[in-house]
Amino acid sequence: MAAEPSAAPRASGPIERARQSEARKLARRSFLRVSVFAGLALSFGAMTAGFLGFFNLRKPSGFGGVVNVAANRIPLPGAEPTRISEGKFWLVNLSGSEGDVLGVGGTGGLLALYWKCPHLGCAVPWLGGFNGAEVNFPGIVGWFRCPCHGSTYSRAGIRVFGPAPRPMDTMALTVNSNGSVDVNTGAVTSGNNNNPLRAVAYNG
Ligand code: FES
Repeated sequence: MAAEPSAAPRASGPIERARQSEARKLARRSFLRVSVFAGLALSFGAMTAGFLGFFNLRKPSGFGGVVNVAANRIPLPGAEPTRISEGKFWLVNLSGSEGDVLGVGGTGGLLALYWKCPHLGCAVPWLGGFNGAEVNFPGIVGWFRCPCHGSTYSRAGIRVFGPAPRPMDTMALTVNSNGSVDVNTGAVTSGNNNNPLRAVAYNG
């Protein structure tokens, strides 16, 4: 009598089913592991960004950092100063010796004047109609004048009247090739009668 052929191994036998089940478990574990790591990485990134933002450690922009002023906001020589709120300064374009009321030899250009009064810190506005005759400078109209105690400053920030101990402070300014300017509001220099000499030449 001929021997019966032996049964072919079945792919879905108990050993194969156990192997497949184990493989599925391993895949699930790997997926969970990757998900947990991805979640942790995202959380860490968010915490780092929050920390840097809270303590202002990122490259600052706005007041305290570099403020870019587009060319179309820069006043023409001799025009009214532009108030740059985001940087807390006045951008002045001196025409020649304008503002050099003490004759230190200014030849014009751009000045960024910190609007904080050197006396007690009030914000100093520009008064375009203020007549210098009231502070012994007849013939010059348009001055910075502090509303708190009356300190009065020329277009170049030179103090001519009031209790302020010095002229208005200036901020570092550089001209870019596209005609805009960068004002570093974190680089403030105490005001001095030589303020007009700090003006940066500007040709638009
Ligand atoms: S705070 Fe400006 S004059 Fe006193």
